[in-house]
Amino acid sequence: MTITKANEATTILPHGGELIRRELDGEKRKALIAKAASFKGLTLGAWSLSDLELIAIGGFSPLTGFMGKEDYTRVVEETRLSSGLVWSIPITLPVTEKQAEEYDIGTSISLYGEDNQLYGVLELEEKYKYDKEKEAKLVYGTTDEAHPGVKRVYEKGDVYLAGPIYLLNRPRHDDFKEFYLDPTETREMFADLGWKTVVGFQTRNPVHRAHEYIQKSALEIVDGLLLNPLVGETKSDDIPADIRMESYQVILKNYFPENRARLVIYPAAMRYAGPREAILHAIVRKNYGCTHFIVGRDHAGVGDYYGTYEAQELISQFEGELGIQILKFDHAFYCTKCENMATAKTCPHDKDAHVHLSGTKVRGKLRNGEALPKQFSRPEVAAVLIKGMQQV
Ligand code: ADX
Repeated sequence: MTITKANEATTILPHGGELIRRELDGEKRKALIAKAASFKGLTLGAWSLSDLELIAIGGFSPLTGFMGKEDYTRVVEETRLSSGLVWSIPITLPVTEKQAEEYDIGTSISLYGEDNQLYGVLELEEKYKYDKEKEAKLVYGTTDEAHPGVKRVYEKGDVYLAGPIYLLNRPRHDDFKEFYLDPTETREMFADLGWKTVVGFQTRNPVHRAHEYIQKSALEIVDGLLLNPLVGETKSDDIPADIRMESYQVILKNYFPENRARLVIYPAAMRYAGPREAILHAIVRKNYGCTHFIVGRDHAGVGDYYGTYEAQELISQFEGELGIQILKFDHAFYCTKCENMATAKTCPHDKDAHVHLSGTKVRGKLRNGEALPKQFSRPEVAAVLIKGMQQV
């Protein structure tokens, strides 16, 4: 699964073998922009726009567009594309039935953002209705509308538009410009740094001591860490991305050796699909050039919908085919008797010796301006979060 480049840095193959690029430039881009003015238009929400971007820059390789019915059905039912390649989450473009009637198969659709900017073009090959309850049950493991991912499935349009896409303008990430790299660029960066093995870390939260512990445990065996926080749509009570980004910079600056970690945004929407999303997260990081990926406790989970290690169990079933090594970590905590970070694998003490804080409790404390225990969060990180959350 790995090939070696001239400079000896190991390059991991993208999912499906080839890094997809659906972004046009130069004359081809100009020509399609000119034509796009005559196509029927569709305005994408932030979620679909981020999917468009990730397809185009190769984060979602081998996808070249929004999924057609055959891929969609197999992904939902079997966690595979129609080619048989492992894929866990539908990447689809929902519209209402009324909207769908406007577009004819075989025509192109101009894709705009809510800011009226033209971002891309879809060559419409298919439109199809789908079973929302089935998607909810099989992908999210529940039909409960209180689940934020399921809620979205029920809210979105009843028809999926499908076909290959072209990107004409990249969505702007002005707030995080210096932390935006596409998969081609992260691969180059790893080669420049001389990293042969890189562990990818997904997060939608600030980096607390438990995260730091598993990241550093991984850094004991690989060359570098790609701290790759998701900054697309998240549920409203998650800590906003701009505050998190500041906290990531602070922890890297104060607690990581300069040449062992890099911060790059993952511009995707959060699905909260737990086990299924862990597989997507691993595939995307492989496309960004990571050789290893961390799956800890309740990865991409929300509420009590998934078991603590359900994501690890599901990803284990596909591990041999994924082509990226999954590093599975037990629930980590600070033990007041060991006086260090640990897991049940390394600590013999009772639960009451362990420092635990739920996300809800943490957010509550931050909003009230209360300090977080230093066994839970680095003080520099807590200071950024307190300042940020009081302004929200
Ligand atoms: S999420 O994107 O997976 O929802 P989160 O920030 O909660 O983000 O977790 C990031 C990663 O760290 C995931 O792989 C998760 O399983 C892992 N993780 C979070 N907290 C712990 C913990 N206390 N012990 C072990 N792993 C953890």
